[in-house]
Amino acid sequence: LASEIRTVYWEDGKVLLIDQTRIPEEFSIIAMTDYRDVAEAIREMKVRGAPAIGVTAALGIALGAQRIETCDSDEFCRAIKGIADEFAGTRPTAVNLFWAIDRMLGLIHPETDSVEVMRQKLLDEALRILEEDIEINKRLGSFGVDLIKDGDTVLTHCNAGALATAGFGTALGVIRAAAAAGKRVQVIADETRPRLQGMRLTAWELSMSGIPVTLITDSMAAWAMSKGMVNLVIVGADRIAANGDTANKVGTYGVAVLAKAHNIPFYVAAPFSTIDFSIPDGSHIPIEERDASEVTHIGGRRIAPEDVHVLNPAFDVTPSKFITAFITECGIIEPVEIGKMRDKG
Ligand code: MRU
Repeated sequence: LASEIRTVYWEDGKVLLIDQTRIPEEFSIIAMTDYRDVAEAIREMKVRGAPAIGVTAALGIALGAQRIETCDSDEFCRAIKGIADEFAGTRPTAVNLFWAIDRMLGLIHPETDSVEVMRQKLLDEALRILEEDIEINKRLGSFGVDLIKDGDTVLTHCNAGALATAGFGTALGVIRAAAAAGKRVQVIADETRPRLQGMRLTAWELSMSGIPVTLITDSMAAWAMSKGMVNLVIVGADRIAANGDTANKVGTYGVAVLAKAHNIPFYVAAPFSTIDFSIPDGSHIPIEERDASEVTHIGGRRIAPEDVHVLNPAFDVTPSKFITAFITECGIIEPVEIGKMRDKG
């Protein structure tokens, strides 16, 4: 079952993850013993999705810690910070990455801890972050379940499923919870150009779970809504500002505007680790710009003219006024409430 998918995990001193660039053609697991390979896997999007990136970086830091050859606590700590910096440089938008790194760095104390103690603390914490992520998603799903009525069709964009987290998923976790509660729910999945997470990952994950899914290209969402085919929209998030403005996969903003125009509720499902209380609004969210070839090429073949200028922002920011509510592990929260939730996480 896709709900039991282990996106990333630790086994025998190695970090293992599903290579998401190969799905659905192939289901392959990569085993890594060098933290640099883990960082590269995040950069190349072999593992992706905000919570999954955070969990993977934490495991990567724990992996790097195993190989630092020193008995000097200060030297060990400096090396860990260097490794953490490498992970921080992989992808800029999902705040879960920086949240996980801060959590890892916050627990090592070279003044009192031996190298062995710090190594163990880092591994324990990374495994805790992983387990907690699955628990949080299940809790979030249980809060979201009432938003879906029997017979509803949910439109989603990108992949906010088990593959985007340590397991279960956020947006797809809510849908999974509704299906488990006996509701007949079906999904319309936007293909999500340019990396096609909706077509490759969401359609695959839902099919594996036996949840009916219909694939559309991104440009068909307005048509589907105008025909009354969509009851609600649920997406994930990469970073939520204190005023509720939300960065998610590019194209999400357009879906939110369309939902508003058709009076369709638009929900963002995300754990508290996705909220960045340090920024007042979405204009402060760094947006990753990825390689132009993701736009100009399809299936490895160049489709665009040779010299065309290309934009490739990987995310966009949906203003909070288009968001009906956030589905979190602490309940359903309206955008105006986000800033007040700082101490509840
Ligand atoms: O570029 P990606 O595939 O990492 O982008 C993923 C998304 O935008 C997801 O919707 C988001 O990270 C939420 S995942 C639970």
